[in-house]
Amino acid sequence: MHVKLPSCLLNGILGFEYGIVQAPLGPDISGPELVAAVANTGGLGLLRAPEWASTENLKELIRKTRSLTDKPFGIGVILAFPHEEQVKAILDEKVAVLQVYWGECPRDLVVEAHRAGVKVVPQDAKKAIDVEVDAIIVQGREAGGHVIGQEALFPLLPRVVDLVGDRDIPVIAAGGIVDARGYVAALALGAKGVCLGTRFLATEESYAHPIYKKKMIEFDRTEYTDIFGRARWPNAPQRVLQTPFFNEWKSLPAHENEANQPVIGKSTIDGKEREIRRFAGTAPNMTTTGDIESMVMYAGEGVGLIKEILPAGEVVKRLVEGAQLLIQQKFGEI
Ligand SMILES: Cc1cc2nc3c(=O)[nH]c(=O)nc-3n(C[C@H](O)[C@H](O)[C@H](O)COP(=O)(O)O)c2cc1C
Repeated sequence: MHVKLPSCLLNGILGFEYGIVQAPLGPDISGPELVAAVANTGGLGLLRAPEWASTENLKELIRKTRSLTDKPFGIGVILAFPHEEQVKAILDEKVAVLQVYWGECPRDLVVEAHRAGVKVVPQDAKKAIDVEVDAIIVQGREAGGHVIGQEALFPLLPRVVDLVGDRDIPVIAAGGIVDARGYVAALALGAKGVCLGTRFLATEESYAHPIYKKKMIEFDRTEYTDIFGRARWPNAPQRVLQTPFFNEWKSLPAHENEANQPVIGKSTIDGKEREIRRFAGTAPNMTTTGDIESMVMYAGEGVGLIKEILPAGEVVKRLVEGAQLLIQQKFGEI
C-alpha cells in the first residue's frame, strides 16, 4: 500500500524547504559555517546572538553567513540578558527568523518584527500562542543546554499542539531528537517540525571544541543539573554530558559558583578573549585552550544515539530522507 506523506515533510514550514531547525548553540558554537550548511540543504539554521559583544559583532556574523549562503536563516536571542540592541540590529538586517528563549515574548516585539518582515519563533512560551508568533518550539526536559521546563517531550508536545488548536502556528519539537525515528515520532505527536541542538553540535561545521565533540561520541549519559554558570545566569538549570569532571563535582554545594573559582582556560567568544573559570557556563569552542575536560559540555539525552561526527547537510538529508522512508515502510503496511 502507498502511504501519503505529511505535507510538512514535503513542503517544510515557515517558508523553508524542510521542517528541520538547527537550534542556536551558545555562546558562539552555531556560527556562520554551521548555519549556512543547514540553510544550503533546506533547513532553518539559527545563529546565536552574542551575549557580551557589540551589535557590530552580530552584524558581522550575519554578513559572514550571507557570504556562505543565499538562503534564509535565523538568529536566536536570550531574553534573560540585555537584548534590545541586538533585536533592533536583527530587525534592521531583516534576518528571516528571530528565535527567542528564556523570557516572555511580548506582543510589541512580534508586531515590530513583522513590520520588518522577520518571523518570530519563541522556544517554550505557551503564552506566546496568543501574540501571533509564527511558530512555537516546544522544549522537553530531554534537551541539551539550558532547559526551562520540567516535562518530557512526549506528554508535553501533544498538549501544546492541542492548545494551539486550529491556529496557523506550526509547533516544533525539541529535546532528545537526533535521527529520523525521533522526527517521525514528533510528527505523530502533532509537531510540524523538529529542532535539534545536540545532533548539530556533533557536526563538522559546529564550533564545539574537538575534545567536546569526541566526548559526545564517547559518553552516552547526561544529567539535568545546575552546577554550571550559577553566578552569571542564576536559576537556569542545564542538561550536560556526564563527564568524569561532572561526576566528581555534581554535588557542588548550593553556595558555590564560578565567581571565586580558579581560571582553567581561555576562549575567544564572539571575537573577544575571555577567561574560563571552573564551573563557568561557557562550553569549550574551537578556540578554547586549557583544561577542556573540566569545562561544561551541554548535551541532550539523545547523545547516546550519536555515533559519528557528520557534515551538517548530511544530518538534514538523513532526517528528511530517513523520515520519508520510515513512514513508507512502517505505515505503508497497515
Ligand atoms: C550546546 C548547546 C547550546 C544551546 N544554546 C542555546 C541558546 O543559546 N539558545 C536557545 O534558545 N537554546 C539553546 N540550546 C537549547 C536548544 O535550543 C534546544 O532546545 C535543544 O538543543 C534541543 O534538544 P537536543 O539538544 O536534545 O536536540 C542549546 C543547546 C545546546 C546543546
